[in-house]
Amino acid sequence: MSLDLNPEQKAAGKANFEQASGDLARAGKMDSMVTGDGRAMPSPDDKNPDRRDVLKAGLAAGAVVPVSAAVYYGYSSWKGNKAVRTALIGTGDEGGVLVGDHNPEFNEIVAVCDIRPTNIKRIFEGDTGPRKGLNKVYGEATAKSIRTFDSVEALLAEKTKLGLEAVVIATPLNTHDAIAKMCMDAGLHVLCEKLMARTITRCKDMTRYAKDKGLLLGVGHQRHYSTLYAQSLEMLNNGILGDIKHIRALWHRNNSWPYDPKAFNHDKFDAKYGIPAYVDSWWKEVPKADAEKLPPERLRELAFGDPEKHGFKDAAELVRWRCSEKTGGGLMAELGSHQLDASSIILGHVHPLAVMGVGGKFFYGRGTDPSKGNDRESDDGVFVTFEFPGRTYYKRDSGGHLLIEGGKPVKDKNNENDVVVVTFTSFNSNEFEGYGEWVMGSKGTMFLDKESDVYLWREKDKSRKGDTGGRDTKITVSGAGGGKPAMEATSTWGAGGSSGAPTKTTAGAAVWDSAVRGYRTEMEHFAYCVRMWKDKKVDYAKNDKGELVHKDIIPRCHGEVAMADAILALTANMAMAKRERIVFEDAWFETAKDDVPETKHAKKA
Ligand SMILES: NC(=O)c1ccc[n+]([C@@H]2O[C@H](COP(=O)([O-])OP(=O)(O)OC[C@H]3O[C@@H](n4cnc5c(N)ncnc54)[C@H](O)[C@@H]3O)[C@@H](O)[C@H]2O)c1
Repeated sequence: MSLDLNPEQKAAGKANFEQASGDLARAGKMDSMVTGDGRAMPSPDDKNPDRRDVLKAGLAAGAVVPVSAAVYYGYSSWKGNKAVRTALIGTGDEGGVLVGDHNPEFNEIVAVCDIRPTNIKRIFEGDTGPRKGLNKVYGEATAKSIRTFDSVEALLAEKTKLGLEAVVIATPLNTHDAIAKMCMDAGLHVLCEKLMARTITRCKDMTRYAKDKGLLLGVGHQRHYSTLYAQSLEMLNNGILGDIKHIRALWHRNNSWPYDPKAFNHDKFDAKYGIPAYVDSWWKEVPKADAEKLPPERLRELAFGDPEKHGFKDAAELVRWRCSEKTGGGLMAELGSHQLDASSIILGHVHPLAVMGVGGKFFYGRGTDPSKGNDRESDDGVFVTFEFPGRTYYKRDSGGHLLIEGGKPVKDKNNENDVVVVTFTSFNSNEFEGYGEWVMGSKGTMFLDKESDVYLWREKDKSRKGDTGGRDTKITVSGAGGGKPAMEATSTWGAGGSSGAPTKTTAGAAVWDSAVRGYRTEMEHFAYCVRMWKDKKVDYAKNDKGELVHKDIIPRCHGEVAMADAILALTANMAMAKRERIVFEDAWFETAKDDVPETKHAKKA
């Protein structure tokens, strides 16, 4: 959040977003909202049952509410389907979030698999925050029937007995492709956590595999299923911000406060792997029980035949996989990929033009003496700049859709300066600004804050005498019903006063709201896709506009979309490693072509 915003200005920003989405919804320009206003009221024979229900509930004229995620993402006809029998592979931090947020009516978790005994225990018992645990989600008696496995091989050997249909993979990055392919070999649909894979070669391999096997492959960039991002995108597509010229994405964290080594519990953790000198959330303590069960030779056996690619040299590398080059992709893979994914959604699913940046082990990486730092390989600070094509960089038809020739957008030679600069910064030693994306246009600014809130402010209109604009201005959207929508000032809240700001929010969200965050919707839609494909041949065919023919029954973040996110993250790493500006090549984004960025740009050892 910006340093110079006072609480009233924040309230103004939030109220403005709601006002703008309400005005646009009343004009029938927001698919993500239902309105009681006559003009945008869905007709009584609306095919969509949830909209009809809203009508029956009798929305007051002028009222606006967001439609349910199921309606917006097109799976509201689910009722009556049997839950998809699903196994969770990887029961660590993210596995815990997914268990806490999944809906058993869509995905019934019938088995869990992990090589670390401590995390198998944790997935049942739960943890703090969103990690509720299987005992709580299913009830202890039912949770007892969920089978546990200590290797993927053992799990798949039982797939028929378990009646398995799909897996959710939440394991370290270097294992994603191996596990996904094994599961697809076993005929299972796959929802794999992000980043898709450790290299683009491996991403292409996974995407081709899904296509060849006729199976679904979804990847967990959850912003594709966030109603907050959907509403924001609709508003941006209405031109509310004017000409977007900059997105500032950031994810800053306080992982630095000195740790008290005396607090290290030698009974619980394996001291041979070093005592953290800082509270580095990636350089974790290694539980004794895991170290004992997983000596290096056992980890080699568990490496899917290729310890160099898919293995861990010891228990410490397994627990601290984000810190090692071979097993993780650093801050760009873990954090930056989400926000660059959001940026490319906001800019209309376009691919970037170029990237450059600086990264380093500026804070932790002071050597191998744990009392001075830690032995991580991945950078603890990254500062990258992407150039993206703006709205007019490519030619568009009268409806605003990109003109595609030979499968590619056509450049408009007159507008090659229409470039949007997207910056991403992430570092570990200060969290003052938290995380989020600032979208800056010629007519206003939108801020998406921590995946849970969104704010909107209008730019000052200098042609109007006395127009204040900016942070204190309350807006409505004029021309929403016809012509180009524009933000109009209706009044100005004086600094320190909040009289005009509504206190109740409609689009605002709680700190952890499943529909807003997207995890739950992502898993529900995945289950829906699995059911819809049951009796059909999965088909990733595209029409002449380059769109998937069956896009409604394929996860929104499918292989090709997720691969583009991996290209953004991993190419940025290459640019930082070589301190060079890298120009993105179209062929990298094409599954059918073998071209990948690592061939040209990976730093040679
Ligand atoms: N979508 C998001 O917002 C989000 C957030 C956090 C993490 N993630 C992703 O989720 C994945 C897991 O991250 P995490 O934070 O849970 O890591 P973690 O280390 O907490 O958990 C990973 C688990 O996978 C297990 N594992 C490793 N190899 C295995 C194998 N061969 N078979 C079975 N289990 C194996 C580990 O023992 C561990 O329990 C990563 O890809 C990460 O990027 C996504």
